[in-house]
Amino acid sequence: MTKKRPSRKQNVRPDASVAKEAEQIKVHTLDILRAYHGERRNLIPILQDIQAKFGYLPREAIKQVAKSMRIRELEVFGVASFYNQFRLNPPGKHPVKVCLGTACHIKGGRIILEAWERRLGIKVGETTTDREFSLERVACVGCCAMAPVSVVEEKIEGKVSPTRVDGILLSFELEKEKGTDK
Ligand code: FES
Repeated sequence: MTKKRPSRKQNVRPDASVAKEAEQIKVHTLDILRAYHGERRNLIPILQDIQAKFGYLPREAIKQVAKSMRIRELEVFGVASFYNQFRLNPPGKHPVKVCLGTACHIKGGRIILEAWERRLGIKVGETTTDREFSLERVACVGCCAMAPVSVVEEKIEGKVSPTRVDGILLSFELEKEKGTDK
Protein backbone atom coordinates (compact mmCIF):
# COMPACT_ATOMS: atom_id res chain seq x y z
CA MET A 1 0.00 0.00 0.00
CA THR A 2 1.39 3.44 -0.90
CA LYS A 3 1.85 5.88 1.95
CA LYS A 4 -0.18 9.10 1.61
CA ARG A 5 2.18 12.07 1.45
CA PRO A 6 1.20 15.19 3.34
CA SER A 7 0.88 18.47 1.46
CA ARG A 8 3.44 21.16 2.31
CA LYS A 9 2.76 23.48 5.21
CA GLN A 10 1.77 26.98 4.12
CA ASN A 11 2.52 30.06 6.19
CA VAL A 12 -0.37 32.47 6.70
CA ARG A 13 0.30 36.01 5.48
CA PRO A 14 0.03 38.54 8.34
CA ASP A 15 -3.16 40.66 8.40
CA ALA A 16 -1.13 43.89 8.27
CA SER A 17 0.55 42.93 5.00
CA VAL A 18 -2.78 41.84 3.48
CA ALA A 19 -4.37 45.19 4.47
CA LYS A 20 -1.38 47.17 3.15
CA GLU A 21 -1.54 45.32 -0.15
CA ALA A 22 -5.30 45.95 -0.46
CA GLU A 23 -4.70 49.66 0.08
CA GLN A 24 -1.96 49.76 -2.57
CA ILE A 25 -4.19 47.92 -5.03
CA LYS A 26 -6.92 50.48 -4.47
CA VAL A 27 -4.59 53.47 -4.95
CA HIS A 28 -2.93 52.14 -8.11
CA THR A 29 -6.21 50.96 -9.62
CA LEU A 30 -7.70 54.41 -9.13
CA ASP A 31 -4.64 55.96 -10.85
CA ILE A 32 -5.05 53.60 -13.81
CA LEU A 33 -8.79 54.28 -14.02
CA ARG A 34 -8.13 58.02 -13.99
CA ALA A 35 -5.63 57.73 -16.83
CA TYR A 36 -8.35 56.15 -18.98
CA HIS A 37 -11.11 58.41 -17.63
CA GLY A 38 -12.74 55.22 -16.35
CA GLU A 39 -14.46 54.67 -19.69
CA ARG A 40 -16.14 51.33 -20.36
CA ARG A 41 -14.63 51.09 -23.87
CA ASN A 42 -11.19 51.11 -22.22
CA LEU A 43 -11.94 48.12 -20.02
CA ILE A 44 -9.37 45.81 -21.68
CA PRO A 45 -6.42 48.26 -21.61
CA ILE A 46 -7.35 49.09 -18.01
CA LEU A 47 -7.25 45.41 -17.07
CA GLN A 48 -3.96 45.02 -18.97
CA ASP A 49 -2.42 47.90 -17.01
CA ILE A 50 -3.66 46.46 -13.71
CA GLN A 51 -2.17 43.11 -14.57
CA ALA A 52 1.12 44.73 -15.66
CA LYS A 53 1.24 46.46 -12.26
CA PHE A 54 0.39 43.50 -10.01
CA GLY A 55 1.11 40.44 -12.15
CA TYR A 56 -2.58 39.45 -11.96
CA LEU A 57 -6.03 40.97 -11.57
CA PRO A 58 -6.71 41.26 -7.85
CA ARG A 59 -10.29 40.92 -6.67
CA GLU A 60 -10.12 44.39 -5.05
CA ALA A 61 -9.09 45.94 -8.39
CA ILE A 62 -11.96 44.22 -10.21
CA LYS A 63 -14.39 45.59 -7.62
CA GLN A 64 -12.94 49.07 -8.03
CA VAL A 65 -13.18 48.91 -11.83
CA ALA A 66 -16.80 47.73 -11.68
CA LYS A 67 -17.71 50.42 -9.19
CA SER A 68 -16.16 53.28 -11.12
CA MET A 69 -17.65 52.09 -14.45
CA ARG A 70 -21.00 51.41 -12.81
CA ILE A 71 -21.14 47.92 -14.17
CA ARG A 72 -21.45 44.59 -12.37
CA GLU A 73 -18.35 42.88 -11.01
CA LEU A 74 -19.48 39.77 -12.86
CA GLU A 75 -19.20 41.64 -16.15
CA VAL A 76 -15.57 42.54 -15.44
CA PHE A 77 -14.87 38.93 -14.40
CA GLY A 78 -16.52 37.76 -17.60
CA VAL A 79 -14.17 39.85 -19.74
CA ALA A 80 -11.12 38.88 -17.65
CA SER A 81 -11.84 35.18 -17.86
CA PHE A 82 -12.63 35.29 -21.59
CA TYR A 83 -9.09 36.34 -22.53
CA ASN A 84 -6.37 33.93 -21.45
CA GLN A 85 -3.85 36.78 -21.19
CA PHE A 86 -5.41 37.60 -17.81
CA ARG A 87 -4.60 35.82 -14.56
CA LEU A 88 -6.98 35.88 -11.64
CA ASN A 89 -4.47 34.53 -9.13
CA PRO A 90 -1.19 36.09 -8.04
CA PRO A 91 1.89 34.47 -9.56
CA GLY A 92 3.80 32.40 -7.01
CA LYS A 93 7.37 33.24 -6.09
CA HIS A 94 8.26 29.85 -7.58
CA PRO A 95 5.97 29.22 -10.58
CA VAL A 96 5.51 25.56 -11.51
CA LYS A 97 4.37 24.63 -15.01
CA VAL A 98 3.46 21.06 -15.83
CA CYS A 99 3.64 20.05 -19.47
CA LEU A 100 0.61 18.18 -20.76
CA GLY A 101 1.64 18.11 -24.41
CA THR A 102 1.20 14.78 -26.21
CA ALA A 103 4.54 13.18 -25.24
CA CYS A 104 4.26 14.25 -21.61
CA HIS A 105 0.63 13.19 -21.45
CA ILE A 106 1.56 9.70 -22.71
CA LYS A 107 4.40 9.47 -20.19
CA GLY A 108 2.12 10.26 -17.24
CA GLY A 109 1.97 14.06 -17.21
CA ARG A 110 -1.43 13.98 -15.53
CA ILE A 111 -0.06 11.88 -12.66
CA ILE A 112 2.71 14.46 -12.23
CA LEU A 113 0.19 17.30 -12.25
CA GLU A 114 -1.81 15.51 -9.56
CA ALA A 115 1.36 14.98 -7.52
CA TRP A 116 2.08 18.74 -7.63
CA GLU A 117 -1.55 19.52 -6.73
CA ARG A 118 -1.47 17.15 -3.78
CA ARG A 119 1.87 18.30 -2.43
CA LEU A 120 1.16 22.02 -2.89
CA GLY A 121 -2.40 21.70 -1.63
CA ILE A 122 -3.78 23.68 -4.60
CA LYS A 123 -5.42 22.99 -7.93
CA VAL A 124 -4.00 23.89 -11.33
CA GLY A 125 -4.42 27.65 -11.96
CA GLU A 126 -4.10 28.45 -8.25
CA THR A 127 -1.45 29.91 -5.97
CA THR A 128 -0.58 28.74 -2.45
CA THR A 129 -1.90 31.08 0.25
CA ASP A 130 1.65 32.02 1.22
CA ARG A 131 2.26 32.95 -2.45
CA GLU A 132 5.31 30.69 -2.62
CA PHE A 133 4.09 28.47 -5.47
CA SER A 134 1.65 28.75 -8.36
CA LEU A 135 0.69 25.86 -10.59
CA GLU A 136 -0.09 25.95 -14.30
CA ARG A 137 -0.58 23.48 -17.08
CA VAL A 138 1.25 24.18 -20.34
CA ALA A 139 1.48 22.72 -23.83
CA CYS A 140 4.73 21.23 -25.22
CA VAL A 141 7.81 23.10 -24.02
CA GLY A 142 10.01 21.48 -26.65
CA CYS A 143 11.83 18.84 -24.56
CA CYS A 144 9.69 15.82 -25.43
CA ALA A 145 12.62 13.38 -25.08
CA MET A 146 12.66 14.26 -21.37
CA ALA A 147 8.92 13.64 -20.86
CA PRO A 148 7.19 14.02 -18.49
CA VAL A 149 8.43 17.56 -18.02
CA SER A 150 7.78 20.24 -15.40
CA VAL A 151 9.21 23.75 -15.54
CA VAL A 152 10.04 25.06 -12.09
CA GLU A 153 10.79 28.77 -12.20
CA GLU A 154 12.69 28.75 -15.52
CA LYS A 155 14.35 25.38 -14.98
CA ILE A 156 13.32 22.36 -17.04
CA GLU A 157 12.88 19.22 -14.94
CA GLY A 158 12.77 16.09 -17.09
CA LYS A 159 11.56 12.55 -16.43
CA VAL A 160 9.69 13.83 -13.40
CA SER A 161 8.13 11.32 -11.01
CA PRO A 162 6.01 11.99 -7.92
CA THR A 163 9.14 11.31 -5.84
CA ARG A 164 11.03 13.94 -7.84
CA VAL A 165 8.22 16.41 -7.05
CA ASP A 166 8.85 15.73 -3.36
CA GLY A 167 12.59 16.20 -3.90
CA ILE A 168 12.15 19.55 -5.68
CA LEU A 169 9.90 20.84 -2.90
CA LEU A 170 12.28 19.58 -0.25
CA SER A 171 15.16 21.45 -1.87
CA PHE A 172 13.11 24.70 -1.74
CA GLU A 173 12.35 24.07 1.94
CA LEU A 174 16.03 23.45 2.70
CA GLU A 175 17.05 26.62 0.84
CA LYS A 176 14.48 28.55 2.81
CA GLU A 177 15.74 27.15 6.11
CA LYS A 178 19.30 28.07 5.16
CA GLY A 179 18.11 31.54 4.20
CA THR A 180 19.40 31.20 0.64
CA ASP A 181 15.91 31.35 -0.84
CA LYS A 182 15.73 34.20 -3.39
S1 FES B 1 5.05 17.30 -24.84
FE1 FES B 1 5.99 17.91 -23.00
S2 FES B 1 7.89 18.69 -23.67
FE2 FES B 1 6.88 18.15 -25.49
